[in-house]
Amino acid sequence: MRRVYFDNNATTPVLPEVFEAMRPYYSEHFGNASSIHHHGQETRAAVERAREAVASLLGCRSSEIVFTSGGTEADNLAIFGLARPGDHVISSTIEHHAVLNSSKQLEANGCEVTRVPVDGRGLVDPDDIRRALRSETKLISIMMANNETGVLQPVDEIGKIAAEADIYFHTDAVQAAGKVPIDVKHIACDLLSISGHKMHAPQGIGALYVRKGTLLQPMLYGGSHERSRRAGTENVAGIVALGKAAEMAKTALDRGDLARMAAMRDRLQGEITSQITATGVNGYGAPRVPNTTNIYFDYIEGEALVIALDLKGLAVSTGAACSSGAIEPSHVLTAMGLKPDRARASLRFSLGKQNSEDDVDFALSRIPATVAHLRELSPVYNKAAVST
Ligand SMILES: Cc1ncc(COP(=O)(O)O)c(C=O)c1O
Repeated sequence: MRRVYFDNNATTPVLPEVFEAMRPYYSEHFGNASSIHHHGQETRAAVERAREAVASLLGCRSSEIVFTSGGTEADNLAIFGLARPGDHVISSTIEHHAVLNSSKQLEANGCEVTRVPVDGRGLVDPDDIRRALRSETKLISIMMANNETGVLQPVDEIGKIAAEADIYFHTDAVQAAGKVPIDVKHIACDLLSISGHKMHAPQGIGALYVRKGTLLQPMLYGGSHERSRRAGTENVAGIVALGKAAEMAKTALDRGDLARMAAMRDRLQGEITSQITATGVNGYGAPRVPNTTNIYFDYIEGEALVIALDLKGLAVSTGAACSSGAIEPSHVLTAMGLKPDRARASLRFSLGKQNSEDDVDFALSRIPATVAHLRELSPVYNKAAVST
């Protein structure tokens, strides 16, 4: 059966060029990057080349890049590396759990956290951040692109507010890296997280940009790897892969390749919302990364639609989380003001570099009939249809 994968915000396939770049570091180039002999020198050089490629994608110096095991660790290192009991931290209601649950743990550790709201399009208002500032505020952590809606936050403005107030600014750019240009100087952030597997490198590798002079308390103690900011023998193959993926992402961004992806995404959402009644785009009207669209299909359980589409070969996802047997509506969509039913009826479609116009055609040939079928079975839909 043909399968189309539109869940690239969950994870992306490793690109063939990236896989080829990393492969020798599992076999012929196996040295420990801390060893002083030939084998170690070889892998050390590869790690440093990758660091330069990542730095070039983000517009910083290579010494400001710390490799981590992924986005979650980068977020944790930024947050726990800075905030101490008694500090005040500003974040938002729509952060990924890597930041949201870290900030909850900060509260348990004796910090105070203000979570600013978002408007109906999923946007933080920088004035809310300005108003939340206190003399004890140590850190602002606001994501660059939301993983469920793709909405891009006004990080440039937030960076200015943080700089004026002399407060650290961290941004989780896991869903932005490789999709929009990033320049840490322009954003004026002190810390920025990225993750390999969201940009066609493998799972289990990521990086944190740490502006020169930012003193972070490490989370892992051991050797003096990563300039004593993150102990542990480097994941050389993963780092090489992240470097290659960063280099390819930069080339694609510089060439304007992402416009093609935005056009495919726009066609997908345009056709869905015009062909199917009672649908709409969550986050419409806000600036978004080019690969993501989040669409509600009223009168349908999102989980049921994900399963029905999967049976027809199309992989998409809901933002809903199944906890204690009940499906909780997405915290991101409810923060945007969606009623729980509409939030549960929402699906995320996220494209990747491997996707083509054919894939969009495939999706469009499956979605309308599947939605119609599920609605036929829906007592709520039938009741609504009768009453209108
Ligand atoms: C916005 C965001 N931040 C952080 C993470 C966590 O990254 P990782 O899976 O590399 O730990 C994700 C992953 O879904 C994400 O989307």
